[in-house]
Amino acid sequence: MREWTAETYHRVSDPMLAFAVPVLTRLPLDGDETVIDVGCGTGRVTELLLERLPAGRVLSVDLSSNMLNVARRYLSDRFQRQVGFALADATALPVSARADAIFSTATFHWVLDHPALFRSLYAALRPGGRLVAQCGGGPNIRRLRERCYALMRTPAFAPYFTAWREPWEFADAATTERRLHDAGFADAQASVEASPVLQPDAAAYTEFVTNVICRPHLTYLPEEPLRARFIERLTEQAAADSPRYELDYWRLNIDARKPGMP
Ligand SMILES: C[S@@+](CC[C@H](N)C(=O)[O-])C[C@H]1O[C@@H](n2cnc3c(N)ncnc32)[C@H](O)[C@@H]1O
Repeated sequence: MREWTAETYHRVSDPMLAFAVPVLTRLPLDGDETVIDVGCGTGRVTELLLERLPAGRVLSVDLSSNMLNVARRYLSDRFQRQVGFALADATALPVSARADAIFSTATFHWVLDHPALFRSLYAALRPGGRLVAQCGGGPNIRRLRERCYALMRTPAFAPYFTAWREPWEFADAATTERRLHDAGFADAQASVEASPVLQPDAAAYTEFVTNVICRPHLTYLPEEPLRARFIERLTEQAAADSPRYELDYWRLNIDARKPGMP
């Protein structure tokens, strides 16, 4: 589950890039800071962060070696000494009280233990350091999740999902603010916003759902024809929606500060 089809993610992740652009504008930077990108993926968003740090540095952290390998190939030539890479879990960042800021997009919902996550982020920041992040939250992809549950209960698929474990934490804003406060953060602010994404056609919808959203489901299915049938059913339902092939994304925005002076 920790590995991704990273080359495909790199190609299909335009929606994540679009989500990230306004999140980046929430992070004030002078250009010489040290920033950790938590869950950097293949580095498309990290690239935008690096462009804002001509005299600074980004530590790109990810749990997937496939993702990090693509990110390294994508970023190293252009940014050389500006960028570093670390294979690590967000709940145990390999940095202590040094980062000026932590930035993260489309990642925290993959981390089930948010209290442990926020403690780890807090420990990595220097006093006065900022956390600016966005992930799935609130009713994120509820329609698609309900369709998955319905399919998982059908006789064709039910035997494979007896040990199903929910792969995401889609927290609400109030819970997130409380957890940030409990971890020691000041000025904690969280909010949830609707961010629907339209896929252009059945093929794009199928590829995106296969390689991004339903990765966890597909790991429970032992044969390719079963996996293909599962995604086909979801694509057929999305084709009947209005608008067609819409992903009902909701994003949780997170802003907080570690108390103290640098
Ligand atoms: C949807 S991708 C987002 C990548 C990038 N931030 C973007 O917006 O395109 C989620 C990333 O989070 C990483 N991830 C998931 N759980 C993680 C964890 N516990 N610690 C670090 N990275 C994690 C995944 O490996 C994946 O690269």
